[in-house]
Amino acid sequence: MTDLTAFARDRGVKYFMISYTDLFGVQRAKLVPAAAIGQMQADGAGFAGFATWLDLTPAHPDMLAVPDAASVIQLPWKPEVAWVASTCVMSGGSALDQAPRNVLARMVALAAERGFEVRTGVEPEFFLLTPDGAAISDPADTAVKPCYDQQAVMRRYDVIAEICDHMLALGWEPYQNDHEDSNGQFEMNWKFDTALATADKHSFFKFMVRSVAERHGLRATFMPKPFAGLTGNGCHVHISVWDRATGLNAFADDAAELGLSQAGRHFLGGIMRHAAGMAVITNPTVNSYKRINAPRTVSGATWAPNTVTWTGNNRTHMVRVPGPGRFELRLPDGAANPYLLQAVIIAAGLSGLATAADPGPRHDIDMYAQGHLVTDAPRLPLNLLDAIRAYEADAGLKAMLGAEFSVGYQKLKLQEWDSFVSQISPWERDHTLDV
Ligand SMILES: Nc1ncnc2c1ncn2[C@@H]1O[C@H](COP(=O)(O)OP(=O)(O)O)[C@@H](O)[C@H]1O
Ligand SMILES: [Mg+2]
Repeated sequence: MTDLTAFARDRGVKYFMISYTDLFGVQRAKLVPAAAIGQMQADGAGFAGFATWLDLTPAHPDMLAVPDAASVIQLPWKPEVAWVASTCVMSGGSALDQAPRNVLARMVALAAERGFEVRTGVEPEFFLLTPDGAAISDPADTAVKPCYDQQAVMRRYDVIAEICDHMLALGWEPYQNDHEDSNGQFEMNWKFDTALATADKHSFFKFMVRSVAERHGLRATFMPKPFAGLTGNGCHVHISVWDRATGLNAFADDAAELGLSQAGRHFLGGIMRHAAGMAVITNPTVNSYKRINAPRTVSGATWAPNTVTWTGNNRTHMVRVPGPGRFELRLPDGAANPYLLQAVIIAAGLSGLATAADPGPRHDIDMYAQGHLVTDAPRLPLNLLDAIRAYEADAGLKAMLGAEFSVGYQKLKLQEWDSFVSQISPWERDHTLDV
């Protein structure tokens, strides 16, 4: 195990950011001087329970974030600081089952018990905005079809290249960057890894993109649908499952349909069966439901699903099989908690494997143009409340992710929904004032 005191000494690190991710997907941290990291590595950093957003009350004892030294990253843009993800425990030693990274660690362990290692790649899209968040930062970025816009990506070269240079230095093997389908929107891709490593990288990526954008006087957002009429921020996940005994991709079978093995079909069957229940995690905010179920955008497509269907190499469905040995889940958005996102995919997939779930028929059609022809496919939840209820109704998924997590998460999400519906919006006044 990495000794963080030695790490600091060898690399000139002055401070550690001991970080954990709360149930809303927000990262919280304490900045600890290197001289104190030895003790913190053993005992953890203390946080007042109620303020952690891990569903603890003011009466609970402190929560301790114990650094997982395997995750430590020296900030490429501020080398005197290092970020480290942590395992949350209660003071007194009891586990904190609902902490998102702990939920994922349990799912990874369960997969390992069953002989599998899940490996994933994420594609977290983001916008670069003005610092107040009100507008797209580049006033010239106004094309109706801006995807892959060469001129627009060059106008943001300094930001994008700086982030990509950091990923190269960290050894993440980034391989492409582009302007995406909405004005002001970008995507950067790096190589897939084990689910926990991908979740840590996904968290750090969000922190890094926001930090580098701030240094350039901009604001980055991963919000699912910041602008009506423009494509939203997806966070597609590519998934494969590997056999721990042989080291081979258990989803790959050249002789099978689309090169997806029987195990791959069952894992996919679990995702299809639990899609509605998963949505409260893959699409966790009020705003998420304005990305899925959206009307067509000005570019001509939303690139987001509204129905639980799958297909081959065709981006109009919830699941795409782009090539042999993996599939892409296009449902998640930029607000998804990086740890819970991976955890719910493994939970649904393992339950599909355990029950030999069938993904159902493949629909090789353009869902945007011909979706009405598919009459028997389940629809995704229409709003956050629908999604909370779909999770509530999915006993299998709740049991996989654990009662502590499920109860706490549903409670906090219901509070969020209540807070939203207690607002009186301009739309209501426009439509109701004279009724
Ligand atoms: N076998 C695999 N298992 C999991 N992820 C994979 C696998 N092969 C590739 N990936 C990952 O899938 C992601 C693909 O993203 P990208 O190149 O943007 O594809 P696209 O936009 O065409 O869906 C990358 O993170 C890549 O590393
Ligand atoms: Mg992509």
